[in-house]
Amino acid sequence: MQAHLLPGTEIELSVLTLGCWALGGEHWGEPVSERDRIATVRCALDLGITVFDTSPIYGDADRVLVEALGDARHDVVLATKVGVDRGHSNLNPAFLRQDLEATLRRLRVDRVDLMQVHWPCEHGTPLESTFEALEQLRDEGKVRAVGVCNYGAAELLRIRAIAQVVSLQTPYSLVRREFEQGLRAASKGMGVLAYEPLCRGLLAGAYSPGHRFPDNDLRSRDERFRRPRFRRGAALARDLARVGEKVGLPAAAVAIGWVAAQPGITTVIAGAKHPEQVRQNALAVKLLDSAKVWQVVGRIAAVHEGG
Ligand SMILES: NC(=O)c1ccc[n+]([C@@H]2O[C@H](COP(=O)([O-])OP(=O)(O)OC[C@H]3O[C@@H](n4cnc5c(N)ncnc54)[C@H](OP(=O)(O)O)[C@@H]3O)[C@@H](O)[C@H]2O)c1
Repeated sequence: MQAHLLPGTEIELSVLTLGCWALGGEHWGEPVSERDRIATVRCALDLGITVFDTSPIYGDADRVLVEALGDARHDVVLATKVGVDRGHSNLNPAFLRQDLEATLRRLRVDRVDLMQVHWPCEHGTPLESTFEALEQLRDEGKVRAVGVCNYGAAELLRIRAIAQVVSLQTPYSLVRREFEQGLRAASKGMGVLAYEPLCRGLLAGAYSPGHRFPDNDLRSRDERFRRPRFRRGAALARDLARVGEKVGLPAAAVAIGWVAAQPGITTVIAGAKHPEQVRQNALAVKLLDSAKVWQVVGRIAAVHEGG
């Protein structure tokens, strides 16, 4: 699988990353079996995916990663997050250290490759104290590189002026395109990890309006799974499936491939719960240089945006 160097580091990121949120067994409906979760991670590894995106708040995803990867966890890129304390952003230096050290114990490693601030601060810790603390943890060798998630363009530029932050993790998909409005420019020269490329499964064509998610599935409270957005997203997914049929690939691969082919994107983080989903998603790499396909997909997306 193709890979890109994370700017300013020696870390190589495969163009696809396995997102481990749903593998943690919380917030995504009935948890899948342990066997399937482990098989999903191993399938990703077998297909050449070398980046695994996790977080202390993704249920027991870290444990599953350790179980599935074994010693291979020292050879892959473990990207994790810090700074969420009981549901709230906490970027206080003492909490960041405690949060990271707990992660190191769970992942059974001495350092993680990429440590990302999970959410922008809601509690007024000055950016300077937060990023000084993160750089300190990097200098101590507990992390190889520091990144951020979910910041807007103005704040990202402020952070870049005070710290060596090498990556931005941000949502980006055919139905969620705020990255194009200022963030792409603000993140120039950084690695960009694009998340939620399937709009939580919607763009894979897995769901149609009327589908009821159980209360323990976050999609039961997601506006994108309510009409009229659900109807529009499902219609887009059907069109992506038609495009996919012409090139012999599933809709999910088309949706993920589109994100991977956009300027400024280093890797696309797609979540999966089953090996078959990973296999479908990894087919996206076949489309990376398919300018013609992206022209068609661009036109289709514009129609659905207006519709
Ligand atoms: N930094 C942040 O704040 C943040 C926020 C969100 C996500 N993330 C990261 O980004 C990753 C990806 O985002 P996401 O998991 O929220 O959304 P996503 O990748 O758009 O959707 C993943 C879900 O879609 C379904 N799916 C996956 N492949 C499929 C296929 N081939 N066919 C049919 N359905 C398929 C699966 O759920 P079902 O089988 O249940 O439908 C899977 O859990 C996360 O795991 C996490 O690592 C980070």
